[in-house]
Amino acid sequence: MKMRKIKSGLLVAVVTTGAMFALESCKSDPASPGFEYMPDMYRSASYKAYEVNPVFADSTGARLPVKGTIPRNGMYTNYVPYEYPNTNEGYEAAGTSLKSPLAATAPIIAEGKRLYGIYCVHCHGEAGDGQGWLVTGGKFAGVPSYQAQLKDLPEGKMYHTLMYGKNMMGSHSSQLNMTERWSVVRYVQTLQKAVPQQPILQQLQLKTVLKRNNPLRRDELRYI
Ligand code: HEC
Repeated sequence: MKMRKIKSGLLVAVVTTGAMFALESCKSDPASPGFEYMPDMYRSASYKAYEVNPVFADSTGARLPVKGTIPRNGMYTNYVPYEYPNTNEGYEAAGTSLKSPLAATAPIIAEGKRLYGIYCVHCHGEAGDGQGWLVTGGKFAGVPSYQAQLKDLPEGKMYHTLMYGKNMMGSHSSQLNMTERWSVVRYVQTLQKAVPQQPILQQLQLKTVLKRNNPLRRDELRYI
């Protein structure tokens, strides 16, 4: 007898609980999730990025990064802080202590050459003699030669100039990332060591001397 009472009691409890669940889950509002077990697991108590946020005066949930924050990935790979200031002292300090992290390997020099052909050649010239077509075309002046004035320029100063620019040369820090800047510096170093081209005036003088003393024909002299 006692056993039967317990059994029916249990049955009532199970049916009631089932009915409660059934009724709770049959709401007419389609947007309602119905019964949620531990809703904190679905809905976090913190504000979402694009939600109105009363904590901040401007009510924007998505905050700007802290001033001085540096992007590490994405399109600005290699964006690292540059600690030499844009002053004469910074320039000199870069010259003595800033060293390239890239070895002068053939692929790096080749990449530097490619970039040089895009960003530098029109002023500095293919041979690095400062005779790019903007200079020879009379649009720009005062570009030094890597083999003459800049023969002994250390790599740190080159990099510094690429970061900040120097007098008439603008900064290239937004066009080239760190690896690209150092690659182009590696290529410029090969130009520093290249045999300087004969200045045009000397070539002309040479021609005259040759013409005077040489039995070569006029058309052959054209190719000297
Ligand atoms: C618009 C023309 C122009 C372009 C483009 C240009 N330069 Fe220059 N560059 C100059 C001029 C002018 C100077 C001389 C600056 C001075 O000393 O007054 C110079 C100087 C330099 C120097 C010597 C800096 C020093 O410390 O004395 C280096 C190295 C150099 N450029 C490398 C480059 C490289 C690499 C590129 C391409 C990424 C480049 N330049 C693009 C015009 C240009």
